[in-house]
Amino acid sequence: MDKGISKPVVRQNATHDNVLRSLADLTRRQLLQLLLTEELNVSQLVTIVGQPQSTISRHLKVLRECGLVKDRRLGTTVFYRAHAQALDESDLRTVLLAWLQDQPLPRTMRERLARALQQRSDDSVAFFERLGQRWDELRSSAFGEAFGIEALISLLPNEWTVADIGAGTGFLLQILAEHFRRVVAVEPASTMLECARRRIAERGHRNVEFHRGDLNRLPLGDACCDLAIACLVLHHVQDPAAALAEVHRILRPSGSVLIVEQHGHENQQFYDAMQDLWWGFDPEDLTEKVRESGFEIIARRNLMSPSTAPRDMDAPQLFVISARRSATGNVSGGLAG
Ligand SMILES: C[S@@+](CC[C@H](N)C(=O)[O-])C[C@H]1O[C@@H](n2cnc3c(N)ncnc32)[C@H](O)[C@@H]1O
Repeated sequence: MDKGISKPVVRQNATHDNVLRSLADLTRRQLLQLLLTEELNVSQLVTIVGQPQSTISRHLKVLRECGLVKDRRLGTTVFYRAHAQALDESDLRTVLLAWLQDQPLPRTMRERLARALQQRSDDSVAFFERLGQRWDELRSSAFGEAFGIEALISLLPNEWTVADIGAGTGFLLQILAEHFRRVVAVEPASTMLECARRRIAERGHRNVEFHRGDLNRLPLGDACCDLAIACLVLHHVQDPAAALAEVHRILRPSGSVLIVEQHGHENQQFYDAMQDLWWGFDPEDLTEKVRESGFEIIARRNLMSPSTAPRDMDAPQLFVISARRSATGNVSGGLAG
């Protein structure tokens, strides 16, 4: 006799007996029908089936023991659902569950189920109604501030090489490193570069290269990046047009640049505190410079509306310019194409 076959058959028969016995009971069949439709907790099942909690719990225990139902704890509540997907197609349970799915439930039960589901969604809306403005605080204390950017970045191809120029302490780097295959950080201040390096090491990323250098002469080869980011950097550079030419040089022919900058302002205190070289930029003027440096503008818009973002120091409003290297590669003003 083939020992490899005989044992599972005995076990399978035992399982079949249990399954058939458990489904011989009408309430258990109805519970299973409900749990094929929705994930429900005991108190919902008590209301829908109209039987005491002890009876429902006992039936659920039987269904769970023969692998027809799975449970999941959420805080103090346990939710149940039918174990349909996880089973083998040839398993008796799969066949019976498929059959049960086609059996009609009594109308009263269907109506109570619909009411229970409506109540669940009403409870959720009521929670947020009560929460109102406090959601902002809860959101950032639970999930932080950056997850929105992290999620949106997933729209971009991860095989890109991305340069963060003037990377500072690596706030953006940590997000870029999560997604892109290769990230290059360029930063002239050694203390900032060290902070960035540590931040990235702590997160265990190995796809970030660090270069001490600046925008006037980037320590990178020609056409090696798909995206260059200059976030709050151009106003620290003596000659923004020359810097843009450098960015153009390191980008592949279809590469893009993302510039975040400050609007022009007259806030002496802010200017002094930030050691800026420029009092921000007029977005129109900077856009024109970007265009003259051989880019096609993709978008330009203001960031961080003052009414929605709490800001200290009366900092100037920010804007973003995104642009792509022109297909022709022509650069006006005598810059290399
Ligand atoms: C306002 S911080 C922004 C840092 C970072 N991009 C961010 O968004 O957190 C400006 C950064 O630009 C760097 N920087 C200053 N002059 C630069 C230059 N000529 N080329 C490249 N980076 C420069 C500074 O050292 C600093 O790290």
